[in-house]
Amino acid sequence: MKDSAPGTVYLSDYAPFGWLIESVHLEFDLDPDATRVKSRIVFSPNLNSPEQEFFLHGENLKLISARIDGTAISPRITREGLTCPVPDGEFLFEAEVEINPAANTALEGLYLSNGMFCTQCEAEGFRKITFYPDRPDVMAVFTVAINGSAGVLLSNGNPGPRGAGHALWHDPWPKPSYLFALVAGDLVAHSDRFTTASGRRVDLNIWVRPGGDEDKCAFAMGALKRAMQWDEQVYGREYDLDVFNIVAVDDFNMGAMENKGLNVFNSAAVLASPETSTDANFERIEAIIAHEYFHNWTGNRITCRDWFQLCLKEGLTVFRDAQFTANMRSAPVKRIRDVIDLRARQFPEDNGPLAHPVRPDHFQKINNFYTATVYEKGAEVIGMLKRLVGDKAYAEALELYFARFDGQAITIEDWLSVFEDVTRRELCQFLRWYTQAGTPRVSVKEEYDSGTYTLTFTQSTPPSAASPVQRPQIISIAVGLLGANGDEVVPTQMLELTKDSQSFTFEGLSGRPVPSILRDFSAPVILEHEISDAERAFLLAHDTDPFNRWEAGQALARETLCYMATSDARPNPDYLEGLRTVLRDDSLDPAYRALMLGLPGESEIALALSAHGIIPDPEAIHAARERLLDALAEALAGDLPALLDANAVRERYSPDAAQSGRRALFTAALALWSRRDGGARAASEYAAADNMTLQLGALGALLAVGRGEAETAAFYEQWRHERLVIDKWFAIQISHAAPDAAVAKTRALVQHPDFNWKNPNRFRAVLGALAGNHGGFHSRDGRGYALFADWLLTLDPVNPQTAARMCTAFQSWRHYDGGRQMLIGAQLDRIATAGGRSKDMAEMIARIRAARPQ
Ligand code: BES
Ligand code: ZN
Repeated sequence: MKDSAPGTVYLSDYAPFGWLIESVHLEFDLDPDATRVKSRIVFSPNLNSPEQEFFLHGENLKLISARIDGTAISPRITREGLTCPVPDGEFLFEAEVEINPAANTALEGLYLSNGMFCTQCEAEGFRKITFYPDRPDVMAVFTVAINGSAGVLLSNGNPGPRGAGHALWHDPWPKPSYLFALVAGDLVAHSDRFTTASGRRVDLNIWVRPGGDEDKCAFAMGALKRAMQWDEQVYGREYDLDVFNIVAVDDFNMGAMENKGLNVFNSAAVLASPETSTDANFERIEAIIAHEYFHNWTGNRITCRDWFQLCLKEGLTVFRDAQFTANMRSAPVKRIRDVIDLRARQFPEDNGPLAHPVRPDHFQKINNFYTATVYEKGAEVIGMLKRLVGDKAYAEALELYFARFDGQAITIEDWLSVFEDVTRRELCQFLRWYTQAGTPRVSVKEEYDSGTYTLTFTQSTPPSAASPVQRPQIISIAVGLLGANGDEVVPTQMLELTKDSQSFTFEGLSGRPVPSILRDFSAPVILEHEISDAERAFLLAHDTDPFNRWEAGQALARETLCYMATSDARPNPDYLEGLRTVLRDDSLDPAYRALMLGLPGESEIALALSAHGIIPDPEAIHAARERLLDALAEALAGDLPALLDANAVRERYSPDAAQSGRRALFTAALALWSRRDGGARAASEYAAADNMTLQLGALGALLAVGRGEAETAAFYEQWRHERLVIDKWFAIQISHAAPDAAVAKTRALVQHPDFNWKNPNRFRAVLGALAGNHGGFHSRDGRGYALFADWLLTLDPVNPQTAARMCTAFQSWRHYDGGRQMLIGAQLDRIATAGGRSKDMAEMIARIRAARPQ
């Protein structure tokens, strides 16, 4: 159904552009506030397109001149672009425009960051650089000339002749405009080289501003080379240019961007050193370097027909980077982390007013659809497809995909077609994973009768505004059965649920088994399986599937927290005992044991309560979680000192999986131990720390027990000149503040001279931390909501993309009590009615405020 919001774009309205582009020549005369861009574009009629008026996108461009086949024209210019009459056949379009990078605070198009020129064109930023059909299905070969005062001048593709103040770049691979990039400024390179499987030599450079960052590039460079090699070995994909450049910029809305041959990275997603970066930072950098590199094939060589197909490149590339991380590090640990992230970010989205299909069918601003659903659920859907067809067919389908669609801009139907062709299996039901919103619930019933065991699954997905009618999905359910002594009596099998309700039978069992269902989280669903605490504790002790073993502990923790948050129930002793056994098991990877120690977050508990029809009380949830942490510390008190000793890393720092796993267990144990010794050990660990993981881990442990004031001050003095560390300093004080102190802490920190809110990393460090402090954000008096809304309104005119993304903090508002809904509703109303809001934020707020479907 089409809604009436003006400016809404619909998938069903897709039509190809009326012209093809033979080639594009761009020439930039760089100037901070008056950059000139000259374009020469050869258009020829696209015979496969409907009749249409010639229209080029263009926003905030000052047209200096335009010509067709050498003759000056006076095109009609609107806020969105340019139209003019054109000849019937091929023609040359030339234009010169002027733009103002210094005034560009939205960080989309050509902008300045610390005096460095850089671009961000995905999704629709190229139209802020010049007039162009700024849509992904128009692919062209670009040649770019750059004239600038000094420094390094970079663009896509291979370098041509260059001299002082000018450079020429040619990208032989046809690409859509969103992959265009230009970077210019005073930069130095950390360089290396890679030889591809077929012997092509590739120069690799990571470019940073001189003065401190040069020695933080080595880890990312290593990650890049590992990613290049992995893509050759696992997907048979080689790099296809002579150079691969990466640039670190401080002001960047996202993590990083896969521009062809010239990836642009948020500094935080590329720069690392043991002293200034945590193990989690290193792991994220490795993943994001790989992700952007992998886009070279899944995204760049094969791209999206239109932005509705965004998951075609993002879901697949997230899936590929997850496979890479699982190979480089620990597969179970990566899987558990991804599920934690999915539950924390995607489930709330899919079960709230922002729910949308993995492939949305309408939007106002595509920037608002770079979501956890498109990315993370999009990757889960590919994992499911791989499980359903098997590894061999998956590999064959991908070979066919690269062969068939190289150089094209395609759809999800095209993607599924290679799986259909390889398996000769219809995938039209599978397509529903892309077209229906909402998280399916799968409930299970068991029956056992003299050797025969039956599992009956029932699926249903709550209707939403995005998907009022839900039809059954294909759901891959990995199941194993355990015997009474913990032995696996039936190894993992993949069951395919395709109907609303379906039974599966296992014969010849010698006794009633304990089922382990949805192993490795084989589908992005909510499993509703009512089993006793004793059975969960049994799985926690015995499940041979590492994911489900962890899940059994999580389920126990979640349930006990739900009870504790709504009554004066005591922690479940089975949980405490089961966890103690796991922690003592030195055969288990420390990283895995650290994850076992992690409790569900407060917002996850709030949503779990709400799913049970109980209105969550944030204060009670916080208090319950604190009580459970105290109880854990008490139950494990005898084990913690030995655990700390065994996992203290004495070797030279390395960010590898083994060492970082030990540090993760060490800092988790330290946080619990601080509840026993009041932070004495954490204070000495803080003083002795020689890496950021331990320093921040110890500081967090201190703040969580109400200490760490002196350390916080010292931390600032130590790191005041390291912007990425100061982001951490801002964030940790707010995220670890008690609920009744978080708002005041945020108020104080936004007054700090280093709170440079126009920098997205700094803004997120502070306001993102407030939104993430569940008790503080939801403080009963509404001050958290009001402060947050104030800052959204402040940021919006300056940087609508980042402001709009942060509106998601309000997406779960309907789960809370009437008083809080009134308070949040008032803030949403205030934002909705404030003048001058961006289209980005207006869309987000309208969707969040929308009435619930009946
Ligand atoms: N293509 C995106 C970057 C992007 C997103 C540009 C939205 C413009 C608008 C890039 O490939 C990406 O997905 N980056 C992620 C990190 C990745 C590891 C999932 C990001 O920036 O968060
Ligand atoms: Zn991506």
